[in-house]
Formats: sequence, structure tokens, C-alpha cells
Amino acid sequence: MLQGGVKFANISATAAVVFPGNRGRMAYIIATANMKGGVGKTTLTVNLAASLAKYFQKRVLVVDLDTQISATLSLMSPQDFAKRRKEQRTLKHIVNQIVRQGNATNPTVSDVVHHYIGSLKGFDLLPGDIDLYDEFLVSETLFEQASQDPNHNFAQAWNRLERVLLERILEPLHKDYDFIVLDCAPGYSLLTRSALVSSDFYILPAKPEPLSVVGIQLLERRIEQLRQNHQLTDEVTTQLLGIVFTMTGGLFASRYYRQVMQRVHTDFSAAKVFQTQVPNDVSVSKAVDSFTPIVLSNPSATGAKVFVKLTQEFLKKLEINLGEKEQKTKLNLAAIE
Ligand SMILES: Nc1ncnc2c1ncn2[C@@H]1O[C@H](COP(=O)(O)OP(=O)(O)O)[C@@H](O)[C@H]1O
Ligand SMILES: [Mg+2]
Repeated sequence: MLQGGVKFANISATAAVVFPGNRGRMAYIIATANMKGGVGKTTLTVNLAASLAKYFQKRVLVVDLDTQISATLSLMSPQDFAKRRKEQRTLKHIVNQIVRQGNATNPTVSDVVHHYIGSLKGFDLLPGDIDLYDEFLVSETLFEQASQDPNHNFAQAWNRLERVLLERILEPLHKDYDFIVLDCAPGYSLLTRSALVSSDFYILPAKPEPLSVVGIQLLERRIEQLRQNHQLTDEVTTQLLGIVFTMTGGLFASRYYRQVMQRVHTDFSAAKVFQTQVPNDVSVSKAVDSFTPIVLSNPSATGAKVFVKLTQEFLKKLEINLGEKEQKTKLNLAAIE
């Protein structure tokens, strides 16, 4: 029996399984993304991560890729964050070094990781920043790289940066974690694209309202475009793990609920939609006041129990998808032999 009165079956999805296609790394990289803001991405990210660490004994790193720094401030106090910024120990200083010279030596990515969130061993954060990269520096670097290329192929230089940026940031950390969860910004910035390209799976949180369907379709279209852009160099293998409906149960939401569900179910198979939905629960949003996700600060609240249940479903979905991915790779190999 776990804290908060929630009981779970044993989950056999252990991170010791290295699945083909994740380039032999230990940690699974999961991105939380939606073109829309305010749909519960960050809340889902921090609670899924906290729940994996606390209830499923996983080693988890949250990476804050949004300049609104909501994930950072959900996991550490503004005072601690201000101190780190002064010490230049935020993601921004890693990103700029990688853009400039291809690796990060001062600070290194390990220098920037904040450990023991909520006093939990193995629950860490790579804190974000209110600006994450210098756009001028990015343009200059890409321009230089493209001019060295005999074909002056700017698009290829761009794709290469997209491909390596997060991979290089995360590479030194893979061995320390079972899961690395990337909290993406809304929209389609360089870091969101890099996160999608580097991830094994992505989760798509959405509110049950008409415009959500548009947000879902836009992201799917963008990912298809990413696959095409990269297909000649290095395949994009990320897969949708599932759509999670968030902030359900409100008056406005219920009016459109059936309509939205119907639409989503015509576009996606049932396996791509999480059965567990996150209801509107004011204690979920209030947890931000204590810089601790609700699954840690108030585990008996309805919202907290739902996040733990969602985490159980997440692990189950992961296990099923890994099996399918492995099967696909075997089939591809058989075709080569
Ligand atoms: N299940 C929930 N119940 C109540 N409020 C929520 C819930 N999930 C998120 N919120 C609140 O909604 C707002 C947007 O959520 P957030 O996770 O920051 O979205 P996003 O990352 O997509 O912009 C925040 O104020 C958050 O506290
Ligand atoms: Mg957010």
C-alpha cells in the first residue's frame, strides 16, 4: 500500500531494458509537448516525474525548456533559483556553450543539475532560464557552418543543430537516470524541435475543448515535417505515447467533452489516448506555492492520486510501446539480412 491510500500492481517496465532505436542509452527521454500553452504540460511533467521517483523508485531528471520557467519554479524556490542564476548554473549557460563550441565544459551539465528535489534521492532538475539561448549566436553559428559547406546548405546546418543540441546536453546524464522528462515550451522553438528529435516518446496533454483538437493536429503535423526534414540524415524515431486530457470536469469543458473525444477518437486509436484524465483540482495549482508537486506535498488530494494512477498507466503504455518498437526493429533487420 502506498502513501495516500493508492494500491498498485507491480509494473514490469524497468528502465534496465535498453530498446533498439534509443541509441543504446539507459534513460528513456520523454517530451511533454503541445503547441498550446496553459494546457497542463508543466503540471503533468513535474507530477509524472515526482511520482516516478517517489512511488516507482525511478531515477528521474526534469529538464525545463520553457523560458516561463514554470517547471523550475514548481520544483525549487525563487530564492534558490536566483542564487543559481547568479552563479550561472542554469541551462542557458549549457546551451550557449554547445552552440558556440560543440560541448559544455564550464559549467558542465552536471554542475547545473539540482539534486534531491523534495529530499528524494534520484529526483533532479536541470533548471531553465528566462532566456535560454542567444539568437544572434545561433544565427551566426549556423551561418558560419553553412558557409563552410560547399553547397551552402543552411537547412542542413539548421537540422544538424536541432539534432545535436539536446543530445549533447543530455549525453553525460543518461547513465544517471531511468527517465529524462523534457518540459517543452508551447509553440515550435529550436529547443522544442530539438526535444522532439531527441526523445524516444512524447506525451501530449490537452484540455477537452474545441481548440485543443487544433493544437493536437498542429503538433502532429509539425512532427511529420520534422521526420521529413531529418529522414536523409538521421531518422526521427520519437513516438506519441499518448494524449492526456487535463483539467477535465469544468462546466465549459463538459459542454464540449463528447464532441472533442469523438474527434480525437476518429484521428487516434484508443491506445494513443490515456484512460486516466486529470481533473480540475485547485490543490494541484496551489501546490506551486510550496515549490513542490502535489504528489509530494499533498499525496492524499484527488489530483495527486490521479497523477500516480496516470504514472502507472504511463509505465504500462511504455512497456507496450517498447515491445512494439523492438518488434518493428527486428522486422527491419530481417529485411536487411
Ligand atoms: N489539474 C489541474 N487542476 C487545476 N489547475 C491546474 C491543473 N493542471 C494545471 N493547472 C493550472 O493551469 C495553469 C496552466 O498549467 P501549466 O501546467 O502551467 O500549463 P502549460 O505548461 O501547458 O502552460 C497553471 O496555473 C496550473 O497551475
Ligand atoms: Mg509549461
